[in-house]
Amino acid sequence: MDRAFPKGFLWGAAGSAHQTEGNNVASDIWALEHRPGSPMSERSGDACDSYHRWREDLDIVRSLGLTSCRFGIEWARVEPVEGHISHAALAHYRRVIEGCLERGLTPVVTLHHFSSPLWFQQEGGWLADAAVARFRRYVRAVLPILDGVRWVCTINEPNLVAMMAGLTKDDRQTGGVAGALPPPDQATADALTAAHRAAREELTGFLSGWTIANQNFEALDGAHDERDAWAWPREDRFIEAAKDDDFVGVQAYTRVLVGREGALPVPEAARRTLTGWEFYPAALGNAVRYTAARAPGVPILVTENGIATADDAARVEYTRGALAGLHAAMAEGADVRGYLHWSLLDNYEWGSYTPTFGLVSVDRVTFARTVKPSARWLGEIARTGILG
Ligand code: BGC
Repeated sequence: MDRAFPKGFLWGAAGSAHQTEGNNVASDIWALEHRPGSPMSERSGDACDSYHRWREDLDIVRSLGLTSCRFGIEWARVEPVEGHISHAALAHYRRVIEGCLERGLTPVVTLHHFSSPLWFQQEGGWLADAAVARFRRYVRAVLPILDGVRWVCTINEPNLVAMMAGLTKDDRQTGGVAGALPPPDQATADALTAAHRAAREELTGFLSGWTIANQNFEALDGAHDERDAWAWPREDRFIEAAKDDDFVGVQAYTRVLVGREGALPVPEAARRTLTGWEFYPAALGNAVRYTAARAPGVPILVTENGIATADDAARVEYTRGALAGLHAAMAEGADVRGYLHWSLLDNYEWGSYTPTFGLVSVDRVTFARTVKPSARWLGEIARTGILG
């Protein structure tokens, strides 16, 4: 069965600044990677050297037939020391934006993707009284380089950021699926919501929104009330906060089963990906339906969906299933404007290079890029607008 996607639908690939650029030395995550006893087993180092090789990356995106590229602006580069705005860093990101436009690619720009400047974190992070004002000041500094951009993601996965902030030292040892984490820190969630609103006030004339980690919480054995109670602080409150936004970003990879006592481990028998998550292509369509029901009328952009695997055929299998689910959700009425695959490159997966999400592999020494068959497969869908 041929499934057609609308004309003008964005087809792209995504990445974030810290995971691709390399040497993000003024950021809090870099400091965490280098701390004695760091929870990160590998350091980001040069990452994919995209800070220098972004032209090559954009050429690949275009050559595949994709029409869009999501990338991040790194606050720690723009404001490496409080109050010092680096005009050189801003000029760099301006060149990247122009590079997208020259190639006919629609840029989707993320302003905050997990990493913050180290000084911001040392001054209390999102819990500091000045946090929202600091974020607003950074957004204002970026505004002049955004000419030609329409889509701006303010804060990536605020629900995950708030959940990480809620972790105690013991929880940090456990790992696993984000949705199984203890509840988010409420004060952090409130601050992120306020920072998002402040950014949106500055971003007049753009399509702005935030991008939410959708966990597909599914009730097991009739535990519907428990599921709802579990989902509200971890996901629903963030979707509801987007109900007046220009769009909401849906990011979906897997599902989390919830029983009477809360989230359950991935079942033994389940097929798993390299992150240990359940192989669950239906995650995307379900996440889109869920989001559309909770933020009615708000256009959806799929800002992330993909799979960590060393088997590229499994990437195609997963993505085919995800796109079939997306198409079905759209046929039922969800207003979805585009699909951005996570990720363009095999990039730094927050502590390790082993879980490879990329459509393109990257040699860890020469940084040579090699396009995988899955990338060409997705490019074909982008060119024809048809999922066969
Ligand atoms: C994040 C990405 C991450 C991906 C896969 C999302 O949580 O936004 O930075 O690499 O999922 O884990």
